Amino acid sequence: MEQGMQPQAMVQGVAVTLGEARLAMTDEGVARGDGAFETVGVWDGRPFRLHDHLERLASSLAAIGLPPTDLGLLAHEAGRLLARVAPPNPVRDGALRFYVTGSGTRVIILSPPPPRPVAHWLVPQPAPWIRPLGTYAPAGAKTMSYGPNMAATRAAVRAGGDDALLTALEGYVLEGPTFGVLWVRDDIVHAPDVALGIVDSISRRTVLEAAGAAGMQVEQGRYGLDALAGASEFLICSAVRDVLAILRVGEQSFPGPTPVRDLLSKSLERARRA
Ligand SMILES: Cc1ncc(COP(=O)(O)O)c(C=O)c1O
Repeated sequence: MEQGMQPQAMVQGVAVTLGEARLAMTDEGVARGDGAFETVGVWDGRPFRLHDHLERLASSLAAIGLPPTDLGLLAHEAGRLLARVAPPNPVRDGALRFYVTGSGTRVIILSPPPPRPVAHWLVPQPAPWIRPLGTYAPAGAKTMSYGPNMAATRAAVRAGGDDALLTALEGYVLEGPTFGVLWVRDDIVHAPDVALGIVDSISRRTVLEAAGAAGMQVEQGRYGLDALAGASEFLICSAVRDVLAILRVGEQSFPGPTPVRDLLSKSLERARRA
């Protein structure tokens, strides 16, 4: 986003500055974290894979039993928000966030990319709230109740790391609190199966597609931390991040080089700015 550009918001279709955006304390989204959200990357002024994000928002609402929202209306409002920062102050790179709360409130925020300290060391943390698809309805939903995810990040930082690598009760590697994960072992790109109940990361989908298109073998499955032994690269990604190489997970180091990261990062950048 251009230097000096004020973040913008839209609450129930009414455009305001972010400072003016208000949600009542009695809104279920605030009071109970009841609702669903999406964070969409904006690159060169265009939201990347907006349709996929809105579809995921619809799935998240359905998974927690909330009524469907009007996706066309949200896309239209996002377009209005992006147009508000049209030339002479065009939005370039930023984050478009959508919230739909249990009270039916729609909020969209357009802001510069959030500052994200680069994570080098992930510390495994149990995530007993992430359960396989089909075992309970909210599995895989991107809900507004992110307290457990944030607590996992804090626990990892207390343990000396930069962020958490969430693991299932059964020990399977899942995802980060705000990012998807993948790793390279024996020239095969491995990623946790979305059926484990992780967020179906859209940036991860993009990079796995890119890996396949580049002729790499891609495997999605259920892997324990022991599957990371012998991996040459461990990578994270999200809608507002590049594909980033992690140097260490627990006691396992990935000293580099990172040719797969470099290739996937270029592909993701190309796709985002196409
Ligand atoms: C728990 C979790 N996993 C993975 C991701 C990455 O998803 P995406 O690539 O769609 O941003 C996110 C993004 O916020 C997330 O919160």
